[in-house]
Amino acid sequence: MKINVNTLFKMAAEGQKITMLTCYDTSFATLLDDAGVEILLVGDSLGMVIQGEDSTLPVTMEQMEYHTRCVARGAKNALVLSDMPFGSYQESPQQAFANAARLMQAGAHMVKVEGGAFMAETTRFLVERGIPVCSHIGLTPQFVNSFGGYRVQGKSENDAERILHDASALADAGASLVLMECVPAALAKRVSDGIAVPTIGIGAGVDVSGQVLVLHDILGVYPGRKARFVKNFMAGADSIQAAVAGYVTAVKARSFPAEEHCF
Ligand code: KIV
Repeated sequence: MKINVNTLFKMAAEGQKITMLTCYDTSFATLLDDAGVEILLVGDSLGMVIQGEDSTLPVTMEQMEYHTRCVARGAKNALVLSDMPFGSYQESPQQAFANAARLMQAGAHMVKVEGGAFMAETTRFLVERGIPVCSHIGLTPQFVNSFGGYRVQGKSENDAERILHDASALADAGASLVLMECVPAALAKRVSDGIAVPTIGIGAGVDVSGQVLVLHDILGVYPGRKARFVKNFMAGADSIQAAVAGYVTAVKARSFPAEEHCF
């Protein structure tokens, strides 16, 4: 079944967990699509896992278009979600629209934009013009230099209130998904309970509508630092297909993330 924004809202309403993995090429897009992964995220994490950079900041629009095209060719049923790279949307809603349109023309069905309530105007601008938006809040990797590292967000009550406000402002602006990265599980639950939009977590506990991880992390092939929320599904699996199936099953059954993957 072809996945679209309505499918995601229906799954969330019915309590069926949504699975998302990052994907950067056609072969893996085909494999993940066959495994029933609902959303293929062409993440700007490709800067780190494909290009060997130490952050996502160097990734360009041309690179995102190229990888979006590769993934779109392998995605028969999955929804293709592409990251807006650093510097491609922060200037104005018009700049964001021009660049989001390039990703949609390359085969994306939705774009992901990092940032909280201050991105609400841009989100509304895109949504009103036919571009579904996934809002990314909490630990937003493009802000690594402002955060001073990859740190859990929303630990103090003030920060938690700000994240709750971000989520509701973005939901009100028409976001189709709200993705939370590295926030305490209890806060992610408050966000999910407070908005009528499906939520996706990475390091955000189990009480969200779905989960995402970086493909290279679930396959245990990324040589960099392993975050607490990562699980290597290749351990004990005899093929990549089996590892991906293990991830899908664990997310659907709510056995991933476990306590040890949460904050
Ligand atoms: O680029 C990416 O892979 C992401 C995930 C970490 C959510 O944004």
